Amino acid sequence: MNIAANPVVEADQTVYLKDYQKPSFLVDSIDLDIRVYDDHTIVDATLNIKRQTAGDLVLLGRDLELKSIRLNGDLLTEAEYQLDAEQLVLSNVPDQATIQTQVVIHPESNTMLEGLYQAGDLFVTQNEPEGFRKITFYPDRPDVLSVFTTRVEADKKYPVLLANGNLLETGEAGEGRHYALWQDPTKKPSYLFACVIGDLAVLRDRYVTSEGRDVALEIYAIEKDIPKCHIAMEALKHSMRWDEEHYGRAYDLDNYMIVAVSQFNMGAMENKGLNIFNTSCVLADEEYTTDAAIMRVQSVIAHEYFHNWTGNRITCRDWFQLCLKEGLTVFRDQSFSEDLQSAAVQRIDDVAVLKSHQFPEDAGPLSHPPRPDHFVEINNFYTATVYEKGAEINRMMSTLLGQEKYRQGTDEYFRRHDGQAVTVEDWVAALSAGSGVDLSAFLNWYNQPGTPKLEAKGEYDAATQTYRLSLKQSLKAHPKYPNLKAVPIPVALALFNANTGEQYTLRSADLFVNNVKDGVYLFDQDRATIEFTGVTEQPVVSLLRNFSAPVNLDFDYSNDELAFLIQHETNGFNQWQATQTLLERILLEDHSAQAYIQALKNTLPELVQRDPLLASRLLDVPAEGYLGSRIDQNYQPEVVQSKRNALLDTFAREMGTFWKETYQALDPDLQNEFSQAMGERALKNIALSYMARQGDADAFTWAEEQYQTTLNMSERLGALKVLLWNDAPQAKACIDDFYNRFNDEALALDQWFMLQAAHPKANAQTIQYLTSHPDYDLGTPNRIRAVSGGLNSHPVNTWSFGVQHFIELARYLDEKNPIVGSRMLQVLSRWYTLAEPQRSTVQQQLLDLKAQVKSKNVAETLNSMLSI
Ligand code: TRP
Ligand code: ZN
Repeated sequence: MNIAANPVVEADQTVYLKDYQKPSFLVDSIDLDIRVYDDHTIVDATLNIKRQTAGDLVLLGRDLELKSIRLNGDLLTEAEYQLDAEQLVLSNVPDQATIQTQVVIHPESNTMLEGLYQAGDLFVTQNEPEGFRKITFYPDRPDVLSVFTTRVEADKKYPVLLANGNLLETGEAGEGRHYALWQDPTKKPSYLFACVIGDLAVLRDRYVTSEGRDVALEIYAIEKDIPKCHIAMEALKHSMRWDEEHYGRAYDLDNYMIVAVSQFNMGAMENKGLNIFNTSCVLADEEYTTDAAIMRVQSVIAHEYFHNWTGNRITCRDWFQLCLKEGLTVFRDQSFSEDLQSAAVQRIDDVAVLKSHQFPEDAGPLSHPPRPDHFVEINNFYTATVYEKGAEINRMMSTLLGQEKYRQGTDEYFRRHDGQAVTVEDWVAALSAGSGVDLSAFLNWYNQPGTPKLEAKGEYDAATQTYRLSLKQSLKAHPKYPNLKAVPIPVALALFNANTGEQYTLRSADLFVNNVKDGVYLFDQDRATIEFTGVTEQPVVSLLRNFSAPVNLDFDYSNDELAFLIQHETNGFNQWQATQTLLERILLEDHSAQAYIQALKNTLPELVQRDPLLASRLLDVPAEGYLGSRIDQNYQPEVVQSKRNALLDTFAREMGTFWKETYQALDPDLQNEFSQAMGERALKNIALSYMARQGDADAFTWAEEQYQTTLNMSERLGALKVLLWNDAPQAKACIDDFYNRFNDEALALDQWFMLQAAHPKANAQTIQYLTSHPDYDLGTPNRIRAVSGGLNSHPVNTWSFGVQHFIELARYLDEKNPIVGSRMLQVLSRWYTLAEPQRSTVQQQLLDLKAQVKSKNVAETLNSMLSI
């Protein structure tokens, strides 16, 4: 693979980490006055600036109509500043000065959902990473921290006027208008500024912090969605307590507001004291949202709350450091979620995302280090690598340190850097200093791309009762990163007696952490061998327990050993890992399915009773897309699909009456514990789909019954899937019924779109029907993602009629919403692995697109995709 330098995006558009320079001016305070009208908005800004280093004053601004600019009160003429499409530059500015600007902007026609934009009846902001420059002229970079005072004025048809911080006053503004004045006492970068103007209802609660601060909690949403905000509110209070207990961090303002918006580019945004959320990440209610969505809401609420310390109080020096705040905050929200449900299942779900999104990303043309060293468009770097691999790096360090030292390390980080804009080096240095353990080698993880390969070999010597494990690590050569270094890999492991299934107590001089049964070995060389003594009989080794490092493990297990681990591993994550390794062999290397089926027959009956959620995960069969991502050339999606279908058929058949009995035995309504009930629902839906596969006449009858009688969205959708995807006679009536029930519920309606787009036999007409449906809306990213995500659940469809869909979408969004456009295009990033002639066909379509796109977002992605 050859990742060449980007030929088309001009060199001067690329920003390099090595070129970082401090801003010449800091902003002590900013007064903003935002007056919203139906067809325009006027923004007045007063900046009190102070020189830090020599140089011009650079105020960034985009799509702003400049009305006036004053320096220390004096109106400037055009000759006194330089203005281009990106910035306003003033030379010879005194060391201390006041700059006043007035600009006009157009939120009412802003389709990019960046800066201030109108979404239905609501005006909201999205300023990370570089949206604030679309509101006013400002040194819009994260290392400029300021105190914001904001006056928001609008017509009274918008009763709610919000901005960050404390409400100082409200009042009349004449002509049926009113205003609110807010001040945020905490210095913050401009990307954390937010305001909201609209007609919303609110759910209120309170929380008293460990420091005794009484905080008003408010979640704003449209009236009919307020009942769906309770789960988020509970999760918020839970997060606040969790951060006090686990990181010693208490909340620092008197109010915490969350606003739900249906048109939003991503999941949610951590604006100081005023989070703005995609409705999909805040609304949760069994009747309207699935169990998976409910879990996601809780984790995103926690994520944005945790940003208050990791991101807001301590922020990033520049956008290359994005993974400093995102990797750490994702690790924190994952740990939080591990306390909410079965920790093993949470880890399974997080690793599944890592392996199905981050690993392929890191193995393809969009591969980059968790901390990139250059970019054209920073919006393209909100990636699985920055978020998910970034989280894994923090997890590895915390695994290595253990709870107590990790806490000493994070305490030191908050002590040193509160109120600052810092780098990944600062984080690793503070963690090292606080814990007393030198972690600097982990910087290699931040600075290099690619998933390391970990090769392991085991050797048992019965005579000396010794087990030797030899390890080797390697990274695939990368043209842009010639000096790849070994990375520190914590290898958590266990040894089991192959005959009794008992876990050995580990005895080895080589272990970093050495407790009774679970060991962690720090492997930080190219090669190493560890020796275990007192191993009385042939062992089975279980490696990377809990996925202790984000690597591709290559260990020569026999199928029987994997089957053994499915049955005897006490770590639920590694039980699952064993199922996945075995299934990959069956599906990609044509191994027999017998060992897998037998292991599940032995394991499931008991596990279904004890931990239905974990049982449901052990039934995961890798998705077609994931399997495709493991194939690097001559990929034929239809071959993968037919092998996978054949396995599902075998599995359906061989399990005999198990499915039917399981379906009948479980009753989620009898469970009071959410994760237990969620597990039973998942299992019942799996059982129904296998019954349908067996051709069981009861499958459709029971599915229809489940569909009609339930009040739970996971049950309703699970049943509908079985009917729809198997073309049951009842399918049409049920999908129409679903539409009639939920056509006023945007998130449920997204599921209606998704389910149809995800039909295994969907075709171009299906997509045509859905995208020309009156409820389809290219201005609502959730709706786009529903259809596109559904379609992409079958690569056979993605790589046939889907190519046209994604290319047209990228072309359209290139102008209207380039952030989302670039993401849609990324779906096609593994085009080069396809078998001919498909490969050349797609390549030509991408080349044709190249001449037609203008945004940095789409152009950069396309160039990277084509330079493989
Ligand atoms: N910082 C947000 C988070 O919590 C990410 C985010 C939200 C974002 N909206 C965005 C990034 C829009 C880019 C553009 O992860
Ligand atoms: Zn985040």
